[in-house]
Amino acid sequence: MIGVQVSKIGITIFGSTGDLTYRKLMPALYNLFSRGLLKDNFDICAIGRRDYSNKDYTDIIRSWIEKFARLEVTEEKLLEFFDHINYLKMDFTKEEDFEVLNNYYKNNDIDNHLVYLAVSPTFFEEIAVGIEKTNCIKNPKIILEKPFGDSLENAAYLSKRLDSVFGKDNIYRIDHYLGKEMVRNILTIRTNNHMISNVWDKSSIDSIHISALETVGIDGRVSYYDETGALMDMVTNHLLQILTIVAMDDPLGNIHEQQYNVLKDLRPVEDVSKSMILGQYENYEVVGSDTETYAALKLFIDNDRWEDVPFFIRTGKKCDNREVEVAINFKRKFSDIDPDVLIIKVQPTEGVYLEFNIKTPGEESGVTRAKMEFCQSCDDIFRQNTPEAYERMILASLEGDDSWFSKWDQIELSWKFIEELKRKYKEANLPVYIYKAGSSGPKESNNLADTEDQRWRT
Ligand code: BG6
Repeated sequence: MIGVQVSKIGITIFGSTGDLTYRKLMPALYNLFSRGLLKDNFDICAIGRRDYSNKDYTDIIRSWIEKFARLEVTEEKLLEFFDHINYLKMDFTKEEDFEVLNNYYKNNDIDNHLVYLAVSPTFFEEIAVGIEKTNCIKNPKIILEKPFGDSLENAAYLSKRLDSVFGKDNIYRIDHYLGKEMVRNILTIRTNNHMISNVWDKSSIDSIHISALETVGIDGRVSYYDETGALMDMVTNHLLQILTIVAMDDPLGNIHEQQYNVLKDLRPVEDVSKSMILGQYENYEVVGSDTETYAALKLFIDNDRWEDVPFFIRTGKKCDNREVEVAINFKRKFSDIDPDVLIIKVQPTEGVYLEFNIKTPGEESGVTRAKMEFCQSCDDIFRQNTPEAYERMILASLEGDDSWFSKWDQIELSWKFIEELKRKYKEANLPVYIYKAGSSGPKESNNLADTEDQRWRT
């Protein structure tokens, strides 16, 4: 635990005036501080190019913390937290500016480092070179945000480059979906229930649906998003990560190996028209662009456990509903009786739901649908005790626990797989379907289903 640290920990954030830092990182750090997990011996160095004083900067982050911190924000706690934050004006595209950072570390006696690169990957190398040349960071742990490069080739290059500067084991590639409570819970549910672990395969499961819909559009992120699209923004990382957790062969095994094996066994797509539907919401910000804001896919995993079980995944912006969930659709017992469905709700509601069949009360032979609901986030205590994804991931990196961070080999496999699909979709001249904002996405996404049971739940 952090509580036993002796030397001072310096948390350096490159990109400290960006949306991610304001919305996620500072509230997460505040939560960790409030929980007593950062103790007194830490320092946050917030790097930016703007000419801010410490006071200017903390005045800005105050409102973000007040809005997004999970734990109670009191004036006293906030001021204590701010005492640990220093804003450092520096231009990290200039090598000489790293001397400023070097001096900062020396003056503040920091010899233990966590460095968060909350910047575009186009700056990763410059930052690494600046740090390497001034030799200003010892024992670093480096957290990288996706995208890890602007192309697969460039990401592979950057990965090697960063490994050589900081050491392979010191790179933490974050996928915040792996910090979400209910994503983690999937493994616990799979492992600890006889009635679930015994049916978790092709003999009982008809299909699996993983859905991540959002009501927001792309707002202030137009240039990033138009380059990226839903496939690279959500599918290559978050959704394939969830898929590997759901599908891994041994939920008690080494997470990386298990995830890697699932990705390795993804069946290459032959007929892309039967495997993927892309969409764009009406009045998308960039006129003439065919960037997808919606993607639905049907994938198969070629191994003994999952042979011929379709995994449907979808994600979309400006949909009717904000919802991330995994639905396990069991096989029908009788053709005229609806199948059992187990739903793991990831957000905004967190919980586990089961739909199954019972005798119609009062009748002798009728069958009625029953729904059992466990809403975990409806319980105040559970909710208050559940760390946010970034909070959990930052704490893990401070503790040197990289088990839930992605390794490059996983990222490379996912990236290659999705790039191939994109290429095929384009070559086949398949359309990017326009859908109404506030709808559930293009209706064509149900064309991927072979049966009624495999259609998306509404
Ligand atoms: C980010 C994507 O990684 O995840 C965003 O870049 C998306 O486009 C976000 O909105 C969703 O995260 P969450 O935690 O709000 O589901």
